[in-house]
Amino acid sequence: MRYLFLSLLVLFNISLAQGSGQEIYQQLCQVCHQKDALGTIIEGGLFSGDNFHETRVEDAGIAAAFPPLANNISRTYKLQGGPDYLKSVLLYGLVGKITVNSQIYDGIMPSWANLSDQELSDVLNFVLSNWSDEEIIEITATEFTVLRQENRDSETNCQARAQLNLNCQLSQEK
Ligand code: HEC
Repeated sequence: MRYLFLSLLVLFNISLAQGSGQEIYQQLCQVCHQKDALGTIIEGGLFSGDNFHETRVEDAGIAAAFPPLANNISRTYKLQGGPDYLKSVLLYGLVGKITVNSQIYDGIMPSWANLSDQELSDVLNFVLSNWSDEEIIEITATEFTVLRQENRDSETNCQARAQLNLNCQLSQEK
């Protein structure tokens, strides 16, 4: 019995340590960005079901909460400075009003600095490759190790997004 418990414990730890990018996405990102990474806009209540992207209304002029990652960040990745921006959003978060595919989003992306560098690169590589046909050069854990040395935050990421010509507006600039 004791051995069973110990081996279960070991297995559990291994499965945690080996959580694939997909598992991390499902556990940590899906709640906001949704299962198919299409994001959501708020209509008929924020937590009214698990497929709330079905209530999306494009161009309704309403500021939505959670932007799509599919058909969005793989395009950003192709821009000069794009990969750096995406890694930075994961590590330091993002605030400000952004536009994606002509829909406005105004929410808060939390920082995921508590994840390991390996987990961060795994989840980003998963999102980039799973919802895009583009060829993606894999982001490495070391790139996150290096980025951690920098002193950035969710507001400097908003400025970085604007510099990529993707737009981002902090609320005091309104
Ligand atoms: C609590 C909700 C929430 C969770 C959980 C979350 N995000 Fe976000 N994410 C957001 C919001 C909100 C934004 C847009 C912030 C804004 O409007 O300024 C965003 C933005 C992003 C962006 C930038 C998109 C762009 O167009 O520039 C990326 C990349 C991203 N998230 C990836 C992830 C990944 C990967 C995870 C899981 C590790 C995750 N997010 C978990 C809410 C969330």
